[in-house]
Amino acid sequence: MFGRRTGPVEPAKGTPAPAAKKPAPDSAAPQKPAAKPQPAKKAAKPESKSAPAAPPRVAAPPPKPQSTVEIGGRSDEYFQTKTTIFNALIDTIDLSQLAQLDTEAAAEEIRDIVNEIISIKNVQMSIAEQESLLQDICNDVLGYGPLEPLLARDDIADIMVNGANRVFIEVGGKIQLTNVRFRDNAQLMNICQRIVSQVGRRVDEASPICDARLPDGSRVNVIAPPLSIDGAALTIRKFKKDKLRIQDLVNFGSISPEGAKVLEIIGHCRINTLISGGTGSGKTTLLNCLTSFIEHDERVITCEDAAELQLQQPHTVRLETRPPNLEGTGEVTMRDLVKNCLRMRPERIIVGEVRGPEAFDLLQAMNTGHDGSMGTLHANSPREALQRIESMITMGGYNLPSKTIKEMIVGSIDVIVQAARLRDGSRRITHITEVLGTEGDTIITQDLFVYDMDGEDADGKIIGKHKSTGIARPAFWDRARYYGKEAELAGALDAASE
Ligand SMILES: Nc1ncnc2c1ncn2[C@@H]1O[C@H](COP(=O)(O)OP(=O)(O)OP(=O)(O)O)[C@@H](O)[C@H]1O
Ligand SMILES: [Mg+2]
Repeated sequence: MFGRRTGPVEPAKGTPAPAAKKPAPDSAAPQKPAAKPQPAKKAAKPESKSAPAAPPRVAAPPPKPQSTVEIGGRSDEYFQTKTTIFNALIDTIDLSQLAQLDTEAAAEEIRDIVNEIISIKNVQMSIAEQESLLQDICNDVLGYGPLEPLLARDDIADIMVNGANRVFIEVGGKIQLTNVRFRDNAQLMNICQRIVSQVGRRVDEASPICDARLPDGSRVNVIAPPLSIDGAALTIRKFKKDKLRIQDLVNFGSISPEGAKVLEIIGHCRINTLISGGTGSGKTTLLNCLTSFIEHDERVITCEDAAELQLQQPHTVRLETRPPNLEGTGEVTMRDLVKNCLRMRPERIIVGEVRGPEAFDLLQAMNTGHDGSMGTLHANSPREALQRIESMITMGGYNLPSKTIKEMIVGSIDVIVQAARLRDGSRRITHITEVLGTEGDTIITQDLFVYDMDGEDADGKIIGKHKSTGIARPAFWDRARYYGKEAELAGALDAASE
């Protein structure tokens, strides 16, 4: 049979012994290069020849007992049987030939051989167990191994792998430990390598940090040993094909219908907006919602680190930054993209995440006729967002007095929308805040909408309400009037303050 080595499968006597073999290599994935010798640290005393012993490494504290989410309901016995069969498969199959087949043919080949191994070794299992074992082994050899069932689920927002034995998922805003585990850290590393090699990158001890993307658009970060002490740490932000729309946010209670109306007006009337929030608070989702209010005849340019936004407008140019290649050259930064945008006759510029000196260029763009530009940034309140923007500009090496930077911020940003993930896992828009001007050295802001927490119910769900602060005429009133949205704005604010 194609893809087989010449040696036959050794028949087992009786039922299979639990995996006593060496850990099997993870087949089709490029193998991890031999660990490079660590550069000996400088000895404290020059005359001492031997490198000093490494400081004792503090073992990771044992994980707190936490309830585990069962994925696929696999028992320990199942894992042992799988390892035995997997090892026999690796001994039987010729991986270099298998790699030449397309995925379907390779899967078929693996299935044939695994079925044969099961019958020769006389493994007792039901048809359903055999089917899930076949699927798991195909996933290990050809796909992303134990991650596959998690990647297939659309309700999972994040997958977080902390070494081979601890895999967490985020569902409905809550982080949960799962029973998913890798055979060992080598298998985890091989799967990380398989993911990043698809985008022409590699991760190993020499270059242990890597960003990548899965073919479905999911955002991936890998940090490998020795930087990550207990095995590779892999973080995946799952790409949602059906992005949440503003109506979904209203249905979830993330924003009130009136607040959503105000956001619609902000998006439509070309008001420069910054979306602020913590990690995973829903900033990108909110930005995507705001872009849906852009008119279809506007030319929009988006700049992102990993393309997540899904704009519906026909006249959209999507740009993505590029990390340096293996030789450390060829990097294209967010700043390069935003600067280049300005030469592309944009009407609006959308920056996925502002985190460095590109803040300056985005503000300049907002200030110079590209009204309605938007971006997100990490901050826990609108005020902190303003401070972050200021420090990004200062750290970018612009030698400007603080007052000038503040004036620039005030002249550019009209509105800050604050997103938050609350402790019950729900995501809320907690502020819609206007940036009004400066008074001395302080930027003056005015909240239009705030989320008022009233406490929590019996199930621990946070109860609260979005309230208008009673501002009848926001600073962008004239702009709303210019776009014919004055009555809608007045209606939304009136309804919210009742
Ligand atoms: N209002 C919401 N209600 C429920 N789920 C939401 C809401 N907003 C976002 N999500 C979900 O939360 C996850 C994270 O959202 P998103 O990517 O927008 O966060 P983010 O703040 O941009 O994260 P990061 O800081 O990592 O870029 C996604 O799976 C998204 O579908
Ligand atoms: Mg984001």
